[in-house]
Amino acid sequence: MLKLHYNLEKLSMGLVGAIVVVASIGGIVEIAPLFTIEQTVEIPDDMRPHTPLEMAGREIYIREGCYACHSQMVRSLADELDRYGPYSLAAESAYDHPMLWGSKRTGPDLARLGEKYSDDWHVAHLIDPRSVIPVSIMPAYPWLTRDLDTGLIADNLTALARLGVPYDDAMIENALADARGQSRPDTDGADGVRDRYGEDIAVRAFDGDPSRLTEMDALVAYLQSLGTLTDAAHEMLAEDTQ
Ligand code: HEC
Repeated sequence: MLKLHYNLEKLSMGLVGAIVVVASIGGIVEIAPLFTIEQTVEIPDDMRPHTPLEMAGREIYIREGCYACHSQMVRSLADELDRYGPYSLAAESAYDHPMLWGSKRTGPDLARLGEKYSDDWHVAHLIDPRSVIPVSIMPAYPWLTRDLDTGLIADNLTALARLGVPYDDAMIENALADARGQSRPDTDGADGVRDRYGEDIAVRAFDGDPSRLTEMDALVAYLQSLGTLTDAAHEMLAEDTQ
């Protein structure tokens, strides 16, 4: 066997051929399952896409590099199931482009974070983590109280729609109004976002101030939505434990 390798190393074209063969085995193993992904990952009936405000928050989550310390994927390990709840299903991130599963777990997993804490807690924690968790090593993000740049919200939805996320024309046309509406309860805009995304969408002044639309509104709306887009994982767990 060693002798064969020794001889192969002396044949440059032969070695190139052998490298191509070996590398393509890895490629096939990784790529082939993707051709059947439409059949293997079933989108649950109750699954909704993120609202425009949540999407804007997701962009901030990416911009600030939160994924460098936080995963969004509960693994099927006993301690994670105890701590976070049901393990993540592939379908739960079917609308995520790019996915934010992450692999560095310096802080807790955030896949099931939605509605675990109050909005006030998130605002205080993001502005100064040590004010609520004295031993926290998470960085502070005090600048998130600035106004949200809404320039790309509609374009973002258009791009996602092209990738197969079910945003219809009305959702794209009203993206900006829906982003504002979700942070202003008791307005027409608030009714609009509920009409388009579902009655149980959280409509609140996430940063505590309904008069301004801030980056904090968007990021907290996003954090509060994590794990709430479908009940599929909880239903699966209930079936498993029966
Ligand atoms: C340098 C690593 C690091 C970065 C970057 C980071 N975090 Fe954290 N995060 C932590 C650690 C450690 C904790 C646990 C201590 C605490 O709660 O503050 C934590 C806790 C949290 C929690 C509480 C989770 C729970 O279930 O108790 C939330 C929410 C959170 N981070 C959100 C964010 C967001 C949003 C960002 C980006 C704006 C971010 N983090 C960036 C390290 C980080």
